[in-house]
Amino acid sequence: MASTNDAWFAGAHSVASSPIGIFDSGMGGLTVARAISDALPHESIYYVGDTQRCPYGLRTPGEVRLYVRQIGAWFAHRNIKLVVIACNTATAAALPLAQRTFGVPVIGVVAPGARAAVQTTVARRVGVIATPLTVASDAYARAIKSLDAGVEVVSVATPGFVTLVEDELASGLHLHQDWRKDTQVFMTPQVCEQVSRELAPLTRAGIDTLVLGCTHFPLLTQPIRKALGDGVCIVSSAEETTREVAETLARRNQLAGDTNTVRHRFATTGEDITTFAAAGQFIFGRPLASIEHIDIAELESLVESQA
Ligand code: DGL
Repeated sequence: MASTNDAWFAGAHSVASSPIGIFDSGMGGLTVARAISDALPHESIYYVGDTQRCPYGLRTPGEVRLYVRQIGAWFAHRNIKLVVIACNTATAAALPLAQRTFGVPVIGVVAPGARAAVQTTVARRVGVIATPLTVASDAYARAIKSLDAGVEVVSVATPGFVTLVEDELASGLHLHQDWRKDTQVFMTPQVCEQVSRELAPLTRAGIDTLVLGCTHFPLLTQPIRKALGDGVCIVSSAEETTREVAETLARRNQLAGDTNTVRHRFATTGEDITTFAAAGQFIFGRPLASIEHIDIAELESLVESQA
């Protein structure tokens, strides 16, 4: 980390204390934000949940690309040192666009999830569940096969899962639990029935590894495990993405030091800040101290639809 060039080091240091920008269509990306914050506790995070326009997975690629550009433009005024697109749908639709236009490194969640799956599968048959837009993009199959062309990929869209998670979060029913440890989290009969119905195509697919190709889905880990049984290893991209963030910042000499004043900030396009705060604390694992509202009109003013 030391450099003999003082001027350069002063510049690098100020970048190091800048926040990591993380965004998703809603609350799901907080699963990734939590993994990053747990592994890199000196980093500040600036999280945007585009709750008002969630779910992205039922939208057109053009719409999602526009939203990604708008959020990137919003981050551009906030001294962000690196952006994580903590949304598989937005990664599948717009990662190259974001990397070309944001002006800072941009890390998506598909390549890290694909890498984790390839490293995990023994049968070399991997299932992927994701939103319809992510499945239609074929991004996971391409990413997995670019790492190991011999791995078979069975992709299944689970169109109801994002809304299911957002609705269950809004109900407040589960928020006293620890979703990463409690084996009963989200295990209501209705949730289990819907999860098992949407996963039916995978039960006889012969997979030994399932990629949660949507950052909302780690919250459904228990119902998914119940539906598919213990023979299927469930992988999410959160930890692998965190590794990539850490390596990128370390190589650029931009990791926050242990004297950094950590300040997490959260923003939502949704109107209901109370629900965002409660569900956010549940997923992120600590209170969301600072939450602001972003008007969609403000995002639209940054990048117009036909631009
Ligand atoms: N968390 C987003 C993802 O990873 C959800 C997409 C949606 O809003 O449909 O794909």
